[in-house]
Amino acid sequence: MDDLFLHTLQDIYYAENKIVKSLPQMIEKASNPQLKQGLQSHLGETKNHVKRLEQVFKLHGQRPKSVDCPAIDGIIEEAEDVAGETESVDVLDAAIVAAAQAVEHYEITRYGSLIAWANRLGRSDCANILKETLDEEKAADKKLTEVAESKVNLAATR
Ligand SMILES: [Fe+2]
Ligand SMILES: [Fe+2]
Repeated sequence: MDDLFLHTLQDIYYAENKIVKSLPQMIEKASNPQLKQGLQSHLGETKNHVKRLEQVFKLHGQRPKSVDCPAIDGIIEEAEDVAGETESVDVLDAAIVAAAQAVEHYEITRYGSLIAWANRLGRSDCANILKETLDEEKAADKKLTEVAESKVNLAATR
């Protein structure tokens, strides 16, 4: 279980770093100001997620390390493909929300497992740090739903 915890920590460390690199492109492509601003603030949070993971590695007596995460690579690659095929800026916004939510949901599943395992391993110190991030991922996901339902999806189907 300890190995699985560490492996998954390395997986989400890779994913968070990849998200830090990819979000600026999504922000650039987004048109709706509320969407742009929401992604921008989540980029700030995401940089902090990387730092929190480094803290958890340290508490766990390990150096921060990444392992390739083909799942997040695939989610981001697919998002880029769809964005490339979308001509309307409003439909592009809807596609960006969907892609960003796929990313959030991936993060939510990883953090959920890590927290459960950290608790089982008697590492509530690690679990508490990971929980702070999980709460921000859930809030980001909820905000995306709100912006989609109140603005973006309306504009995309007008
Ligand atoms: Fe994150
Ligand atoms: Fe996130």
